[in-house]
Amino acid sequence: MSSTDNNNNNLRSVVLGVGSYLPEKILTNADLEKMVDTTSDWIVQRTGIQQRHIAADGETTSMLGIKAAQKALASAGVDADSIDLVICATSTPDYTFPAAATQIQAGLGITKGVAFDLQAVCSGFVFGVTTADKFLRSGSHKRALVIGAETFSRLLDWEDRTTCVLFGDGAGAIVLEAQERGGDGRGVLSTHLRSDGRHREKLYVDGGPSSTKTVGHLRMLGKDVFRHAVGQVGDVMLDSFREAGVDAERLDWFVPHQANARIIDASAEKLGIAAEKVVKTVQLHGNTSAASIPLALDVAVRDGRIKKGDLVMIEAVGGGFTWGAAVIRW
Ligand code: UT7
Repeated sequence: MSSTDNNNNNLRSVVLGVGSYLPEKILTNADLEKMVDTTSDWIVQRTGIQQRHIAADGETTSMLGIKAAQKALASAGVDADSIDLVICATSTPDYTFPAAATQIQAGLGITKGVAFDLQAVCSGFVFGVTTADKFLRSGSHKRALVIGAETFSRLLDWEDRTTCVLFGDGAGAIVLEAQERGGDGRGVLSTHLRSDGRHREKLYVDGGPSSTKTVGHLRMLGKDVFRHAVGQVGDVMLDSFREAGVDAERLDWFVPHQANARIIDASAEKLGIAAEKVVKTVQLHGNTSAASIPLALDVAVRDGRIKKGDLVMIEAVGGGFTWGAAVIRW
């Protein structure tokens, strides 16, 4: 799927603002040493993770999403009621239905337009940006909020050391607006998505309304996911570079899904992206699934690394498998 499909007008989806929110409670590796048979050294060496945030009892995905969206709207300098498209990428909605996006829409006081969830696990934010970009460039919608929000702590088997040390909770959001293509070249330049449903058993949740009538726990064959994450994502990244007419040299920032520092480093190296262009937040956030990229984008915008006009690539791999990449002139 390419962003130039059906691209018969002069519109581009331009980033107006970004925001994020992390729950107050921090769970450190030292805390985990007291909960399961692990060591901080193992976690840091194998993943780079030092800490993660955990939602409080009663603090839901949509609550995190609302706070991230409010910050994104403030950074964009636009009112909530100017938003006519809300997409929430999540695998941990408050309820089986309605969509978390509708809860976020209501929480922000938006009563027009459309809101829906998008489920592509850790690739959800890239899928969300891609979907919003197609809505905006079609001319059907004007201003979108794309949110990645997760409470993965609720899906974890806290006795399984191979998974419970990896994930955290959080939310991030961006505001995109349909604008006439300008001379500054800003906007989403290219998007590419893939999925291959044959790999379900490598990363899945062993419950659901239609199978077990329970929420279930996350299960993962870590090595297989690692191999796929490093081995196969190159295709969407290269396609995105090619379509945007850029290459790794010209990229200013690489903001990948934050699952594991080793996966991030290996992917960047494979594509020839210099280490100093890589935004890494996995050490502080853990793997927050669909929230990880907008959380990392917000960190890098706030600390002054990502500036208007910079060329940014986002990229992710997730359960399914799903994977995708997008090139954005910020
Ligand atoms: O967001 C997309 C989804 N997820 C990912 O992208 C994650 C992809 N996979 C990974 O990041 C890595 O595969 C892991 C971090 C999950 C695991 O790293 P690994 O280098 O592949 O380790 P491994 O699974 O081969 O395990 C090595 C050893 C095993 O012991 P033996 O069999 O060698 O004796 C594990 O039992 O480490 C053991 N181990 C642990 N030891 C201490 C597994 N988990 C832990 C732990 N603490 N938490």
